[in-house]
Amino acid sequence: MNRRLRLGVNIDHVATIRNARGGLYPDPARAAVEALEAGADGITAHLREDRRHISDADIDTLAAMLAERGRPLNLEMAVTAEMREIALRHRPHAVCLVPERREERTTEGGLDVAGGHNWIAPFVMKLKDAGSRVSLFIGADPMQVEAAARTGAQVVELHTGAFCDAARESRVREAGAHLDALMIAARQAASLGLEVHAGHGIDYDTVEAVAAIPEVVELNIGHFLIGEAIFVGLGPAIRRMRALMDDARGVEA
Ligand code: PXP
Repeated sequence: MNRRLRLGVNIDHVATIRNARGGLYPDPARAAVEALEAGADGITAHLREDRRHISDADIDTLAAMLAERGRPLNLEMAVTAEMREIALRHRPHAVCLVPERREERTTEGGLDVAGGHNWIAPFVMKLKDAGSRVSLFIGADPMQVEAAARTGAQVVELHTGAFCDAARESRVREAGAHLDALMIAARQAASLGLEVHAGHGIDYDTVEAVAAIPEVVELNIGHFLIGEAIFVGLGPAIRRMRALMDDARGVEA
């Protein structure tokens, strides 16, 4: 087991707050620098089709800043021609392909890779050829894991939202069933040669169960950390999350 998990901090919601006033403050790039200084291994940003939080200019700034520091940018995006062109222009370290519906508040489910294989597989190939590590954001479903492996993507990110929601709402049996499904999917993905990441909805109470799944090597966490930053600051929130992740893996601080 790769003991130390990587942490990608998703800074989208710094842009959400900025956009509430339409100005420049708070700056997601400043949050990215603080996140790295507090123990994030990389920065994740979702350029949505409707640009509701992260903007094209944010991606330009983040890509330049992270390249200068030799730190990875994980660009989350929908499987569209527009996004493909943006990714091919920036060639980020990583691209995570996510489903996107304009009316949703956040990414509500995983990508239907099994149903969309014919267009997702060539999309993945283009991004891989450009040098990005491609990840598919999927639910913990054996059919989707199998389909993801057939696209040639190097990574799957397992959607932890259903587990985290059930755990938070004390739906104990449901949470247990979701966690079991995540563990089975992680094992299956690793056995197919896929690197396994996980994310969505993770907070201090749910991180340890996800971090303890041995095949998982990276977590991407955003909303909770930005929310917690209001109360304790971004650096302390990330350091506490990092410590919980390390505890779950038996890593010395
Ligand atoms: N991973 C992916 C693929 C996502 O789409 C998101 C949300 O943008 C996250 C991780 C982070 O989720 P959260 O903001 O709930 O921590």
